[in-house]
Amino acid sequence: MDRGPGFGVDVGGSGIKGAPIDLETGELVAERHKVATPQPATPGAVAEAVAEVVSHFGWEGPVGATFPGVITGGVARTAANLDPSWVGTDVAAAFAEATGEPVVVVNDADAAGLAEVRWGAARDHGGLVLVITFGTGIGTALVHQGRVVPNIELGHIELDGVDAETRASAAAREREDLGWAEWAERVQRYLRAVESYLWPDLIVVGGGVSRRAKRWLPLIEIRTPLVAAALQNQAGIAGAALTAGAGTSG
Ligand code: BGC
Repeated sequence: MDRGPGFGVDVGGSGIKGAPIDLETGELVAERHKVATPQPATPGAVAEAVAEVVSHFGWEGPVGATFPGVITGGVARTAANLDPSWVGTDVAAAFAEATGEPVVVVNDADAAGLAEVRWGAARDHGGLVLVITFGTGIGTALVHQGRVVPNIELGHIELDGVDAETRASAAAREREDLGWAEWAERVQRYLRAVESYLWPDLIVVGGGVSRRAKRWLPLIEIRTPLVAAALQNQAGIAGAALTAGAGTSG
């Protein structure tokens, strides 16, 4: 069954990037286009940036977009690392109005999780896979037998008495100028806490920092098998495109 390409946009705290995606393989059909996330990252400004990315490709058709917060029915419920005015905003409607195309919005980690199970490091995994993205925040996605359980927010569990993502995200490493070993020690404690609640068969770590997994992944000792994401930073775009593509039938 040839489905033709889909389109995904990944909305993050620092950049908004998008590309047409081959929905059979998860590969980019054209080089991705990236613009800086406007500051302040208000709904109107971000929607315009999303529209710019979509129009860069002259794309017409369904668009999948990620959002770095809880999304229910297209509406943002949290926005830990974006402007607080997002909470309660119908993100799907705002992006649809700006782009003139139908838009499906999904949590960024959920998109990455879906893509890693479909095409990446957990390809065709039939069990319970936890995908954790380390970036500005910590995103978590639980995928069981290929289906995402949406909006699990394990980035915000308590670590050292505070919100875990403020201690163990990639941004925390940069902010505090931590060496790889120091940061890996925090990530290990974080992952051990997570695996005390869940018993996944596999944990996949993603986000930009997964590109340098050789530096820190081998330092981490946990019960669960642990691998680096295969699609790395592209997983969000691909997973968003897949989510939007799945909702339509050509
Ligand atoms: C948000 C999550 C998001 C993650 C990564 C967290 O702060 O609560 O929804 O997936 O950051 O962007």
